[in-house]
Amino acid sequence: MHLKTFLAALLLVAVAITNLYAQARTAVPTSQRVDAATTRKVNTLLAKMTLEEKIGQLVLYTSDYDVTGPVVRAGYLKDIRAGNCGAVFNALTANFTRQLQKIAVEETRLKIPLIFGYDVIHGYKTTFPIPLAEAASFDTVAIELAARVAAREASAAGLHWTFAPMVDIARDPRWGRIAEGSGEDVFLGSTLARVRTRGFQGMEGWDLLATDSTVVACAKHYAAYGAAEAGRDYNTTDMSEQRLRDVYLPPFQAAVNAGAGTFMTAFNSVNGVPATGNRFLVTDVLRDEWGFGGFVVTDYTSINEMMKHGVAADSAGVGALAINAGVDMDMQGGIFQGSLASLVRRGVVKEKTITEAARRVLTMKYKLGLFDNPYGRNDSLREKARTLTPENLAAALDMARKSIVLLKNDRDVLPLSKSLGTVALIGPLADNQRELLGPWSGAGDAKEVVTVRAGLTRKLPSTKLLYAKGCEIDTKDSSGFAEAVRTARQADAVIAIVGEEQGMSGEAASRSQITLPGVQTELLMELAKTGKPIVVVLMNGRPLDLSAVLPAATAIVEGWFLGNRTGDALADVLFGDFNPSGKLPVSFPRNVGQVPIYLSALNTGRPVNVNEKFTSKYLDVENTPLYAFGYGLSYTTFAYSNLRLEQNVLGQRDMLRASITLTNTGKREGTEVVQLYTRDEVGSMSRPLQELKGFKRMTLAAGASVQVSFEVPVQSLGFHNAQMKYVVEPGTFLVMVGGSSDKVQTLPFTVR
Ligand code: BGC
Repeated sequence: MHLKTFLAALLLVAVAITNLYAQARTAVPTSQRVDAATTRKVNTLLAKMTLEEKIGQLVLYTSDYDVTGPVVRAGYLKDIRAGNCGAVFNALTANFTRQLQKIAVEETRLKIPLIFGYDVIHGYKTTFPIPLAEAASFDTVAIELAARVAAREASAAGLHWTFAPMVDIARDPRWGRIAEGSGEDVFLGSTLARVRTRGFQGMEGWDLLATDSTVVACAKHYAAYGAAEAGRDYNTTDMSEQRLRDVYLPPFQAAVNAGAGTFMTAFNSVNGVPATGNRFLVTDVLRDEWGFGGFVVTDYTSINEMMKHGVAADSAGVGALAINAGVDMDMQGGIFQGSLASLVRRGVVKEKTITEAARRVLTMKYKLGLFDNPYGRNDSLREKARTLTPENLAAALDMARKSIVLLKNDRDVLPLSKSLGTVALIGPLADNQRELLGPWSGAGDAKEVVTVRAGLTRKLPSTKLLYAKGCEIDTKDSSGFAEAVRTARQADAVIAIVGEEQGMSGEAASRSQITLPGVQTELLMELAKTGKPIVVVLMNGRPLDLSAVLPAATAIVEGWFLGNRTGDALADVLFGDFNPSGKLPVSFPRNVGQVPIYLSALNTGRPVNVNEKFTSKYLDVENTPLYAFGYGLSYTTFAYSNLRLEQNVLGQRDMLRASITLTNTGKREGTEVVQLYTRDEVGSMSRPLQELKGFKRMTLAAGASVQVSFEVPVQSLGFHNAQMKYVVEPGTFLVMVGGSSDKVQTLPFTVR
């Protein structure tokens, strides 16, 4: 062969091998692939665009309809008109969004339609339970439906894009935003990230986005926002890369695999680098490792805030950091609009970087069908017909009932009998609508909320329902106690509805004390002195320290914030028409000093031993939480027996197949969330004591038994080793199955 031909062939082979290698490194999930036809259309459009027009696509401004952060930039209408704004958030209703769309489509040179985004976090008009509450249901079908309903309503109001799901793992109940996510656990968090993404988008991938009933999901806040030091919002996070990859990142990757079309960067810094300027997170991991193909938006003015983080001195500096990190769209900060063009001219940012960012935004606009039909979602009749429908409200009721967790039920005081003569309903949340929507309830309308008082009145036509407020949620005023006690004395049972204001959780709502606010605990103690059975119903957006509530309460029902159908859901549970089945998606500490306290902790070299001084413990409180992850009671009882493994020596590619017999040993039908945990006993790095790897909701008639089987891929039992490689190391493991993380049956197995 001619030397030249040989060398050319060699070069071709080398290129092919490099390509194969690159593809193997970035295995783009099918759900993230862009089809050739869309790419062609985007290319044609990009070829016509000026640099300024491309930059315009990277700019997102809030309308004045609703505002969810500081307004640093007014006059968004002028920017739309000038082609300097590609997307708008906080603009609601089919009519209003139509007006804005008209400006973009009729008055700008290239007629590129706008995307409309909004925080549809737990329902749009039909408000569902807060996400943390939904997670307590462990019901992936109901949770997916909740997201579908939200998407249906939101898309009928002109919206294309929700800033959800929030998939931040949160292990610190002081942090108010724990309410918005799925709690502390990686497996549950990843499962629900997938389910919610699919619920919003209609399927795994972008193919349904052009329908008029879906919205693009946005996995947020990328990344590690939930690990804010001391639980103070926006605060620093700093952790090993192992922990980042093993705990905080998996729910985000699950969202990518489920086809999430967008990502939002977080406010915090991660190991010293603000997430919004973090190239490692946004480009190396998200795009190159995981194959994310959608676009990345910042959080609200988080580019600007990098000046306060102290990583650049001026707008140009932070703008360059963000765009070069791989961020595509600037939420509300005005930095991209103000600085990108000159950064390109100065050579600090490549024009290609801008083009690629614009490509990603435009690709989503094509996927949404916006160029074919920019007004596809702007039909006010459809908006009305699809909003707050009986079906949507029924889904919200179902979700609310399944989200409730029964924490305590002494002497089986619950369910209460519907034939009680007199019931006293007491507490600042008993007759309240406003708070029950919970944090980030977006377009939810408090007037549509069924209060607890209304729900109980409906449930108990022949019972005398007495009511006294007792106190406010968060004041020192106890002047209402006397009336509350008088009311309680006249009743056969007392139901006390206590908790937090909705604004005490969510963004910028951290608390250093996590007891019941104000004098509510004192109110409960006064009520307890009457000797009547006291059923405490909690409404709150975070785990609370209930140590002082416990002795005053005969029963405790965790009611979180349940949304529109709160009163009905609680009445069903309290009076036995629905048997509670929720389990805690997050540990409840005995006091705030134990925080962070979570299930999947590592062991220490000196595990707690109360009889030995030099072990890992507190002098004044036990190590265990008050209520463990996965805990929750039912009106029936369940027994577990006969845990079995199909094989107890497994290869790397095998499935761990476990089964257990579950028996309903009580007197009524009930649903149990069966949980499977594992532990890797010896590894090259210390491994958590217990990790959730599977769960199943099982409904059983009284007396019935069923064999519950699990299949867990051995590949899911791994971790990132010191070389940051994901490995499943051979050795002995434990499998644990039960109805709560602290009540399990255990068997060993070996991985070869
Ligand atoms: C929040 C985001 C939210 C955004 C837009 C920010 O303050 O952190 O979660 O999506 O505002 O409302």
